[in-house]
Amino acid sequence: MIFDTHCHIYDSKYEESIDEIIYKCLSFDVGLMMVVGDNIVDSKKCDEISKQYNEVYSAVGVHPEEVDTDDFDKMEEQLTSLVLNNNKIKAIGEIGLDYYWKNDEDTKSKQKKYFIKQIEIANKLDLPIIIHARDSVTDCIEILKEHPCINKGVFHCFSGSVEQAQIIIKMGYYIGLDGPVTYKNSKTPKEVAKIVPSDKLVIETDSPYLPPVPYRGKTNYPYYCKEIIQEIAIIREADYKEIEELTFENGKRLFKI
Ligand code: NI
Repeated sequence: MIFDTHCHIYDSKYEESIDEIIYKCLSFDVGLMMVVGDNIVDSKKCDEISKQYNEVYSAVGVHPEEVDTDDFDKMEEQLTSLVLNNNKIKAIGEIGLDYYWKNDEDTKSKQKKYFIKQIEIANKLDLPIIIHARDSVTDCIEILKEHPCINKGVFHCFSGSVEQAQIIIKMGYYIGLDGPVTYKNSKTPKEVAKIVPSDKLVIETDSPYLPPVPYRGKTNYPYYCKEIIQEIAIIREADYKEIEELTFENGKRLFKI
């Protein structure tokens, strides 16, 4: 069975209902899905979906590009109340740093504050974290060295170097790989896919974004995990089934499912 450890099936990009998407996922052997929030509104959607479907678990959190107010107490209250009322919320995420669109000092420092605050919330609630790090892996590593998450977590859609992956793995965090590992020109994710230890690799789609080959330019779905697993199996000279199974087990261990 497949575990898509990062998807946004509540996204308005989808024309189908969540019912239809999940039904199709099950028929394609996707047995577990982690729906991930980007802000409080979406986190509530994730909470609801995971309550409705056996196969779906959820993560709640505020994405670095969604940080607005500095009302940390309110954010903590909202995230805490969601987690305490639903035992299928298994992580705080996605949280982290994103310097792709804006990288002035003000933006960076605000994002860092949110990241640190949400690591603290994860520690209070005894949960791992889902880390979004775009053009910011070094800073994320620095923050995690000073503010470690007790239950660790995953660098989702990992886009850093092999060296950075090795540091992250040593620190006990998992590496999440998705569509880009199938892109012909994206060399680094392929190199990373080769070196991640078998007990630290998880599969994800980040759907509806980042569809793997041959679906580029289209909407992504959790059942396109197959293409990602296939590519990783080729890179690692392993069996498809072996990668499917080990990443499924890794995902369950990471999120204590
Ligand atoms: Ni995402």
